[in-house]
Amino acid sequence: MQLIHSITEMQSYSSVWQQAGLKVAFVPTMGNLHAGHLDLVERAMQLADRVVVSIFVNPLQFNEDGDFEAYPRTLDDDMQKLGDYQVDAVFAPSENELYPQGRERITWVDIPELSAILEGSSRPGHFRGVATVVAKLFNCVQPQVAIFGEKDFQQLLVIQRMVADLNFPIEIIGMPTRREEDGLAMSSRNSRLSVEERKNAPVLYRALQMMRDNILAGEGDFAQLESQAMEQIAAEGMTPEYISVRSAKDLEVPQVSADLVIVAAARVGQTRLIDNILV
Ligand code: PAJ
Repeated sequence: MQLIHSITEMQSYSSVWQQAGLKVAFVPTMGNLHAGHLDLVERAMQLADRVVVSIFVNPLQFNEDGDFEAYPRTLDDDMQKLGDYQVDAVFAPSENELYPQGRERITWVDIPELSAILEGSSRPGHFRGVATVVAKLFNCVQPQVAIFGEKDFQQLLVIQRMVADLNFPIEIIGMPTRREEDGLAMSSRNSRLSVEERKNAPVLYRALQMMRDNILAGEGDFAQLESQAMEQIAAEGMTPEYISVRSAKDLEVPQVSADLVIVAAARVGQTRLIDNILV
């Protein structure tokens, strides 16, 4: 397994592989890897001959400097986990390597509409930061296929839209959310929860399941289900931010017979959690 810090070195590995007719799969991450990330890696290995995982805590997608600074950086641990899989390369550029011009004077990739709603309205500029870094990472790694988690459902749609709009010759694959036994979606942020907060956090997924079950049983009053779920979450001491039934295709308010996703965000103490469920 190669640990690569330089963009030109990453690109030359990739072009040697492509010339040999090998298919390259890519899993972008911010590190602090858990079993959900490793599911993506495993899928990548099934899909391609060479697998690259990137580890880069991207300052452009954080809304608060404190959150960026506090993000766990665990490269040695991560390398050890990836060593157990047959990952070919870990691409871990420094901030200066990826953004030599600094954080301001950047060519941005901005996806309209989809970036402004839900997570985008809670976290202005977040998806612009995500799309910009992923576009750059795609050009560094030059994969044929890239794997993302449905855990960050809106992010997955943003990347799919970017790839379509900018004609990246890359297939985007979504993977189901890996959960703890009590239903809490795995996330690097879970380690910030106190014992009490951790105990209460699975209510987010229970509320989503409650909504899904009711919709599948024929309930059509989504607003009523949404406020019921809000109450359920608040009763466990969490502060729900949004919980909303949307079209799974574009996160618009759904038309009749659309495939549905229910997306949610809630705060517990200092930590913000997101989750979703497909109906
Ligand atoms: P990060 O939060 O590290 O997540 C990396 C990938 O793992 C994303 O595609 C995310 O959706 C997926 N993932 C996270 N938790 C998961 C879970 N419990 N089950 C399945 N997949 C899960 O998302 C990012 O990093 C960044 O925004 C990035 C795309 C790397 C751009 O900086």
